[in-house]
Amino acid sequence: MITQKIALITGGSRGIGKDIAMNLSQKGVDILFTYRSNKSEAEATVAAIQSFGRKAVALPLDTSQPNTFPAFFEQAQVILQDKFATDRFDFLINNAGTSVTAPVTETTEAQFDEMMNIHLKGVYFFTQKALDYLRDGGRIVNISSAVSRQTFSGASAYAIMKGAIDVYTRYLALELGPRGIRANVVAPGAIFGGSAMQDSPEIRTFVAGITALGRVGLPDDIGGVVAFLCSEDAKWVNGQRIEVTGGVGL
Ligand SMILES: NC(=O)c1ccc[n+]([C@@H]2O[C@H](COP(=O)([O-])OP(=O)(O)OC[C@H]3O[C@@H](n4cnc5c(N)ncnc54)[C@H](OP(=O)(O)O)[C@@H]3O)[C@@H](O)[C@H]2O)c1
Repeated sequence: MITQKIALITGGSRGIGKDIAMNLSQKGVDILFTYRSNKSEAEATVAAIQSFGRKAVALPLDTSQPNTFPAFFEQAQVILQDKFATDRFDFLINNAGTSVTAPVTETTEAQFDEMMNIHLKGVYFFTQKALDYLRDGGRIVNISSAVSRQTFSGASAYAIMKGAIDVYTRYLALELGPRGIRANVVAPGAIFGGSAMQDSPEIRTFVAGITALGRVGLPDDIGGVVAFLCSEDAKWVNGQRIEVTGGVGL
């Protein structure tokens, strides 16, 4: 018997998270995803997933607020039972996030805390709570960034938190091995088309110029890699970081 797979994706309403949701749903996975505040965009993504014949539910969540996570998972559990006829999901994709750009000398404590809460503390404790509902043998994919390996001026606060997620993922892989749960990182380069990346013709020209494949990255470049890590083809990939940049800093 084939058990229906379900993915929980944070920030699945647009950008990279939406592409992950679309790619997984096209491969037959049902989707529970979160958005922060843009409900109409989330509803459009639900409709797009449903057009592939898959189930989709969107829930609001601010991943920088760990005190809200217990209530979120109580709500998610009801939805899993009512809409998906199960009490577990199979794939956790920690994707939600924004960025700040400021040199070290100008980064404020508020900016640093914002990055820490969204990209580190939020991911750490959201995953911790999610483990009660993630099926044994499931997968965790954390969306990091190329900037955790390569340095770009102005990215320090953001990049530090992404670097911490790379480390966290290895610990998840180690400690969850007995449950058969694999944890890996996907580290995109600059991806244009979402609001997390500053966008201008000059920045696009610069990024294309440092990319071996000679163009900028798009959300559509990422979802398939995440779907691969969730597939049985990647069953022996664990605790790894896959950089998806088209070839930057080689
Ligand atoms: N774009 C890039 O160049 C790039 C490169 C490397 C890594 N990444 C990483 O990839 C992930 C997605 O980036 P993206 O460019 O696709 O972003 P995006 O297009 O701006 O979409 C962000 C998504 O996350 C949600 N979100 C934002 N802040 C949130 C918060 N505090 N709590 C919960 N949800 C929140 C948004 O919901 P609303 O629409 O409701 O606000 C939206 O669904 C991020 O972790 C980012 O750091 C991005």
